[in-house]
This record gives sequence, structure tokens and C-alpha cells, in this order.
Amino acid sequence: MTSSPTQSLEDRVRSIAARHRDERGALMPILHAVMEEMGHVDPAVIPVLADELNLSRADVYGVITFYHDFRQTPPGRRTVRICRAEACQAVGAAELVDRAKSRLGVGFGETTADGAVTLEQVFCLGNCATGPSVQVDDRLYGRVSAEKLDGILEVSA
Ligand code: FES
Repeated sequence: MTSSPTQSLEDRVRSIAARHRDERGALMPILHAVMEEMGHVDPAVIPVLADELNLSRADVYGVITFYHDFRQTPPGRRTVRICRAEACQAVGAAELVDRAKSRLGVGFGETTADGAVTLEQVFCLGNCATGPSVQVDDRLYGRVSAEKLDGILEVSA
């Protein structure tokens, strides 16, 4: 079901909750659906979900903040993800992380001041044989050198 532009955030969240309420551990699938539909989990959804699932606000907040997948602010126009899992770490991911942070001026989970790029870390993109791996939105890059990363960040900005 898609939401209309005039539907309030509360209505949208209640509608998502209704679709997933009967699933086991409903909060997680609901939060994933909120992320997918809205791009982030606005703090305003916390009291709505607490009410829908008969949980405390602290419970909902705790889950949102525990799992780094749940962004609380809107993402940038592009999201750059750097793989930090073992295979990529072994071939230079740490250098890419340092470079991306210093070039963009943000840390993981943060967005550049102009709203262009959000930087995130991931733990395996399924591209282990040709790491280090970087993903920009849906596009995957392998064997990313520092210079290649510069080019990727250039076109992402
Ligand atoms: S470890 Fe980086 S893609 Fe798998």
C-alpha cells in the first residue's frame, strides 16, 4: 500500500503497524518497513509504535538506537557504504574509511552539511572476492583503491 502525500506521519505509521502487527517480534519488521517507506525512523514514530504494540517508549527507542540500520534523520541524496567486514579489512578497507571520513567531513551515520552524501559502514556486501567493496545507493564497486574512492565520492557529491 502506498501513502498519499496528505496522510499524516501518524496515519502512515499506524497503517504500517497494522500490516505487520501479527508477525513475530513485530517491532523489527515494522521498523524496517518504516525505513523502507520513509527513508528514516523519525523520533515522532516512537509514541505511535509504543501505543500500537503496547510497549513503553523506552523499549521502542532502545531498539531504534541499538540497531544502526535505523536512521533517525533523513539520509543524504546518496548513501555511500564502505564494507568493514574481514575480507575487505584484509585488503585495505580501513584506509578507505579514513579517506572517506576526511574527504566528506562526516563520520558513519552522518550526512554532509549540504545533504549530498550519507556515509555508512556495512559488514559484507557479498563482494568479498573483489574487495575492498563500496556501494553507492544500489551500485556496487569492487577493488576500490584510495584513488578510485576519490572518484566515487566526486560523482556522489
Ligand atoms: S567482506 Fe566486504 S564484501 Fe564481503
